[in-house]
Amino acid sequence: MSPTPTPRLNPAVMEPLSAALPRHWEAQPDQAALQQAIAQVLAAIDRNLEHFGTQFPAPSSVNSVYPAIGNIEWTNGFWTGMLWLAYEVSGAARYREAAEAHVRSFHERQAQRINTNHHDLGFLYSLSCIAAHKLTGSELAAEAAMGAARLLLERYMERAGIIQAWGDLNDPEQAGRMIIDCNLNLPLLYWAAQHSGERAFADAANRHIEAAARHIVRADGSTFHTFFFDPATGQPRHGKTHQGYADDSCWSRGQAWGISGFPLVYRHNGDARLLELSKVVANYFLNRLPEDGIAYWDLIFTSGPEQRDSSAAAIAACGLLELSRQLPAADPLRGAYRHAAAGMVQELSGRYLIAGGAPGSGLLRHAVYHKPQGMGVDECCIWGDYFYFEALVRLTHSGGDWQPYW
Ligand code: GLY
Repeated sequence: MSPTPTPRLNPAVMEPLSAALPRHWEAQPDQAALQQAIAQVLAAIDRNLEHFGTQFPAPSSVNSVYPAIGNIEWTNGFWTGMLWLAYEVSGAARYREAAEAHVRSFHERQAQRINTNHHDLGFLYSLSCIAAHKLTGSELAAEAAMGAARLLLERYMERAGIIQAWGDLNDPEQAGRMIIDCNLNLPLLYWAAQHSGERAFADAANRHIEAAARHIVRADGSTFHTFFFDPATGQPRHGKTHQGYADDSCWSRGQAWGISGFPLVYRHNGDARLLELSKVVANYFLNRLPEDGIAYWDLIFTSGPEQRDSSAAAIAACGLLELSRQLPAADPLRGAYRHAAAGMVQELSGRYLIAGGAPGSGLLRHAVYHKPQGMGVDECCIWGDYFYFEALVRLTHSGGDWQPYW
């Protein structure tokens, strides 16, 4: 008897990869150019390490310079993640010491529940404490990451099988709302399952990614930014944007969170259907890039004066590299995804990078945080800087042997 075929997670149609990649994008990135780009990033980190001291860069810049903030935002982990990457590539103790001071701050943050009532705990704790645990074996970091994972698990709604994005679980405005960005927060749960032996973390992550696959990805391979379920019955209700142009448009960064999150979850749960879905989402994204290959802030725009989102490009590049690494060697799109990722990074290094900026300056110009609310529009965003650095590190490990913090 032949085995029952596994049902597809989502019947979305995969567009063929139709867009010609910009002609000047080289398939094989020049390793010397990558090393030079990493040296520029390290120089910027050195300037900012002195400038921020024990504080952190704000989520987005003002005139390309990040205001200093305490450990209170959803974005603090990106700066710590950059310090860990800097430590990995250089071995310099100053980065490790600064990152270890952050770990102590992150430990306190979860213990005191300082602005932890949201799904972004994975962004915060994967790049700070899980990175610390992986690189140094720190028990304090592991304890903090476990605490954060328990807070994230508190947001799991059993009926709908999702982690609620924002707000109190009883808040009528937010109850039952999931978000594509949360794909990147699930690795914290898988890590906690493995570290503690408690299956509940992985079970919740598995149900959440399945809900994202079935309901956030639309039939044409685009994505909703957020999706509501009835919290009482668990029935799916409707999609809604938060940071995109319209409910039925496709917010570029959300699509990039999809490209990267599905293969990162595959790394943990081995469900190959997530790789297929990442390809669907990736092709939709790549087919809607303007001439220089750096997406507008919403994929409804493919030309004209609207702002780009360089941070979406940096996230997508890391996602395409992860996807390419996880696909079987015979997959015909494997090389194209790596080529596209390398091209985007070349473009970011060549035309979007702020070299030799002021203290506090960001790295990647022309990102957008929240266009509908007018926040961080055409500014630097700290996650764009992080993912640009991660993409450079990934590209310098052409054998794919760099171990993500996710
Ligand atoms: N996760 C929030 C954002 O991408 O702006």
